[in-house]
Amino acid sequence: MKERLQELKEEALNKVEQADTLNELQDIRVAYLGKKGPITEVLRGMGKLSKEERPVIGELANKVREAIAGELDAKKESIEARELEEKLEKETIDVTLPGRPVTVGGPHLLTSIIEEIEDLFIGMGFEVREGPEVETDYYNFEALNLPKGHPARDMQDSFYITEELLMRTHTSPVQARTMGKFQGSKPVKMICPGKVYRRDTDDATHSHQFTQVEGLYVDRNVRMSDLKGVLNRFAKQMFGEEREIRLRPSFFPFTEPSVEMDISCKVCHGEGCSVCKGTGWIEILGGGMVHPRVLEMAGYDPKEYTGFAFGMGPERIAMLKYGVDDIRHFYTNDVRFLKQYHKA
Ligand code: PHE
Repeated sequence: MKERLQELKEEALNKVEQADTLNELQDIRVAYLGKKGPITEVLRGMGKLSKEERPVIGELANKVREAIAGELDAKKESIEARELEEKLEKETIDVTLPGRPVTVGGPHLLTSIIEEIEDLFIGMGFEVREGPEVETDYYNFEALNLPKGHPARDMQDSFYITEELLMRTHTSPVQARTMGKFQGSKPVKMICPGKVYRRDTDDATHSHQFTQVEGLYVDRNVRMSDLKGVLNRFAKQMFGEEREIRLRPSFFPFTEPSVEMDISCKVCHGEGCSVCKGTGWIEILGGGMVHPRVLEMAGYDPKEYTGFAFGMGPERIAMLKYGVDDIRHFYTNDVRFLKQYHKA
């Protein structure tokens, strides 16, 4: 029996020595020290032994047991230590690795420009109004002194939906809507930003859909000089104090007299260069004194009230301000283009 125990001890310690994982150790523990293991079996057979042998074998069996258990524990500790070491090694974080950049969006250039225009006019006492993009023939044309068959309707090729409904070709119908609502009861001082639609073929300077900002100021004693003053302030704040403006006579059916406004070229300051095509000036908007017929149709007595109106294209303003050379950049939304105008 002694030999048998000695053998078992050696066998078990050998296996412990070779074991490489915690699982293997557990298996060895169960196999040798478990209730069904060989050592338990030896102890069970002690009944057959003589009185003298019994304590000797009992003591030896316990020693063998302790020795195996001790080795198992020691090995367990060393495997655990090694596994921890490996885990730490594997999970090391390289803090010098550059992080992935977080991409943050920003307002579209057109949105920023429209907001800038709004801010400038709000600062001069204008309120912001909006109107529908699907407009009636009445507000888009008739109420603006463009009766059916008027040749000036051809200035704005339109997308018609029905005989009487179309995509608005400009933001001017919002003038007629706003005045029409108040029917001469109070002065109006408003701007209206929004999308407009024309049957144009898209190219570097044309788009079938673009934006406008309309302006309207109707009150007693509003004069052409007020228009000039407001637009001069706008131009200088938008493009720089050194820029000059000039008004040229023009024609719109809803204003009389009508003007187009130019600003001095920022490249040559009026001398003439390729940017301004040698003229020294760049056209930026149209406007004029509200036509008496338009006032009348909206319930304003032209003997009591006068007003000015203007309309500008934010795309054009942005193109001039930032040197954008193709209107299509605003709509194709290439992020490389858009990103340049995100304010930090
Ligand atoms: N509605 C005109 C256009 O689209 C611009 C304009 C607005 C002109 C107001 C005069 C007064 O061309």
